[in-house]
Amino acid sequence: MKRILLDYIACPDCAADIEGDFETELEEGELRCTGCKRTFGVHNGVPTLLPSQANQAALQVAAEFGEQWQRYNHEIEEYRQQFLDWIAPVEPSFFEDKVVLDGGCGKGRHILASAEFGPKLVIGVDLGEAIYVAREATRDHENVELVRGDLLRLPFKDNIFDYAYSVGVLHHLPDPRGGFKSVVGKVKQGGHMSAWVYGYENNEWIVSYVNPIRKHVTNRLPRPILRGISWVLATFLKGVTQGLYKPWNKFFPGSRLFYQDYLLYIADFPHREIETIVYDQLNPEIAYYLKKEVFEEWFDDMEDTRIEWHNRNSWRGLARKP
Ligand SMILES: C[S@@+](CC[C@H](N)C(=O)[O-])C[C@H]1O[C@@H](n2cnc3c(N)ncnc32)[C@H](O)[C@@H]1O
Repeated sequence: MKRILLDYIACPDCAADIEGDFETELEEGELRCTGCKRTFGVHNGVPTLLPSQANQAALQVAAEFGEQWQRYNHEIEEYRQQFLDWIAPVEPSFFEDKVVLDGGCGKGRHILASAEFGPKLVIGVDLGEAIYVAREATRDHENVELVRGDLLRLPFKDNIFDYAYSVGVLHHLPDPRGGFKSVVGKVKQGGHMSAWVYGYENNEWIVSYVNPIRKHVTNRLPRPILRGISWVLATFLKGVTQGLYKPWNKFFPGSRLFYQDYLLYIADFPHREIETIVYDQLNPEIAYYLKKEVFEEWFDDMEDTRIEWHNRNSWRGLARKP
């Protein structure tokens, strides 16, 4: 971590500033809260700033994703456009000179894109060991810093980021709305926040049939078995999207097959990425599917809110903090 990170972080327990005895960079060591005097370890250039009363359900989910991102740590060129689709209508130029927060950065794939868009600094936060995968991925980027912390008790000063985004994370929190509000609390007045979450609409089949299987079966399976199942399902999906959905869409452009927008969207992704998507669906303990009105309510005290339907199965929102 570089010294500049001290300007942004705060104690997750008492919100006081954090200090460290180092000149410019710290790879392994310790930081200290100037208020409650708690100490925090720094490992691999990443400070761990967890609240003393960590949320056990959140830790469990983050541990599951930590394992996932260590295994599926590849990067593909499609990630850049996918990220822009998730945060639309935000465009690369929007990032210029901004201080940006990636809330729940996982393996760091969106940080890699953001960091190229000219921000002053991108800070990624994740609760699990995925943060070290992000660290390896972003090590060469001067304008990236990482923190291990909980979205529900973010270890940052209030009102400090120009822009925060959280992609595919809030629906995995024990309290999704609380996570959203927590991130907004760290955005400056006049700054912006983007969020992308699973929609309930058009995903009723997942809620009714896949969710119980995920919770009671696949979430508990030994990981090698879950990886095997994901590989088989990905092979099936690849075959169906390439052999049926793409030709169907070409010859009958007006008619719609089941879950067509999303399946066409991922049809040309490499097999490894489709495996990751399947694994991501079957792995976590918690996954909420949110109705539009629920998502809209999160933005009640924001301005210039734009909520849009993405691939007819998820919601993305962008708003300004008044
Ligand atoms: C589906 S992954 C998405 C990662 C990344 N945003 C992406 O799109 O590649 C969800 C991530 O949220 C992280 N996460 C879950 N609960 C969290 C929490 N309470 N605080 C911070 N990160 C959390 C997980 O560790 C995981 O890496």
